[in-house]
Amino acid sequence: MSTRSNMVKVAVIGGEGIGPEVTAQSHRILSWFAAKRGVPVEVREAEYGIVPYLATGKVLPDDTVEAMEEADAILWGATGGPETKEVPPAARKAGSLLSLRSKYDLYANLRPIVARQALANSSPLKPEVLKDVDFVIIRELTSGIYFGEPRGIERLADGQRRGFNTEQYTSNQIRRVARAAFELARTRKNRVCSVDKGNVLETSVLWREEVIALRNEEFPDVELSHLYVDNAAMQIVREPRQFDVMVTGNIFGDILSDCAAMACGSLGMLPSASLGPINRFGRRKALYEPVHGSAPDIAGKGIANPLGSILSVAMMLRITMNRPEDADLLERAVDAALWAGARTADLAEHGTKKLSTAEMGNAVLSALEKVAGKEREHV
Ligand code: IPM
Ligand code: MG
Repeated sequence: MSTRSNMVKVAVIGGEGIGPEVTAQSHRILSWFAAKRGVPVEVREAEYGIVPYLATGKVLPDDTVEAMEEADAILWGATGGPETKEVPPAARKAGSLLSLRSKYDLYANLRPIVARQALANSSPLKPEVLKDVDFVIIRELTSGIYFGEPRGIERLADGQRRGFNTEQYTSNQIRRVARAAFELARTRKNRVCSVDKGNVLETSVLWREEVIALRNEEFPDVELSHLYVDNAAMQIVREPRQFDVMVTGNIFGDILSDCAAMACGSLGMLPSASLGPINRFGRRKALYEPVHGSAPDIAGKGIANPLGSILSVAMMLRITMNRPEDADLLERAVDAALWAGARTADLAEHGTKKLSTAEMGNAVLSALEKVAGKEREHV
């Protein structure tokens, strides 16, 4: 029996666009693990975005703030979309996803890129390029040009306007995300590729120096290589299997992860984990979210792919809950559902049956029952 003290607190926040639809399915999956596998979770659902804004004047109402504060893990859906124009920029900014990443210091953003063989035909890349592709992009998430000051749009003397942002990194910011990459690499194939633009940018010169220094001081056993970001983009489509762990700054990671997503068949397949520092109780705040965003064009239609969100639950099981067997089980169930032909619209080849968001959730749940049942037969 699990006692309250070892309960893992999870805030489930669907948010906007397709967020609530996909999160409803990943929430079902999480509940399955609580009911069938004894995963000790205590779930608190909370609202985010335009709906609570219209009711309370805040995109992030007090109840949601409280749920996030007390949570070990946040299961996040999505934010954004045209209807959010009704929210004044200041109110939106006060509760934005970027402000949350910053508030909880979620500096290490893990985006696994796994080319599932069952989806080889859904990817624009050739099957032989997709073979054995399994790497993780670690994107720095709380600094860089996303947060650097000064920033703004100003009026020049000649009447033109000038927009400006500041790319910036401190040595500590570089080292802590690089440390996350080296530590992860040690659990995998022990290779880190650091991506920068050191031929042009000073921040990248510092980035590379700090990554090399850290590796030499603390991780001499890990193989380290470097790529300029333009070359990295090319290598990701040329030969993605060469990578194990890729570490990079905020904006490069944003761009490269969308690019790499194509190896997975659809952006809808990508999960992510955003991790904060480990506190004095050994706990680490984490936010799990699909990479796809709010997809306003299909929101409310019940056709979005929930697998990015469902695979984010697998990451939660592995990282926050320290339940690697359960995480593996879920990933195997997703694979089994895909091999059995389950496809949402973004994955379906021409003329094949397209499942709704909820039907894809059902497919994963019944695959879970089967895979878990087989496991029991073998013990
Ligand atoms: C992502 C998204 C976000 C980002 C947007 C929605 C602000 O593209 O998480 O990759 O740029 O970080
Ligand atoms: Mg992005």
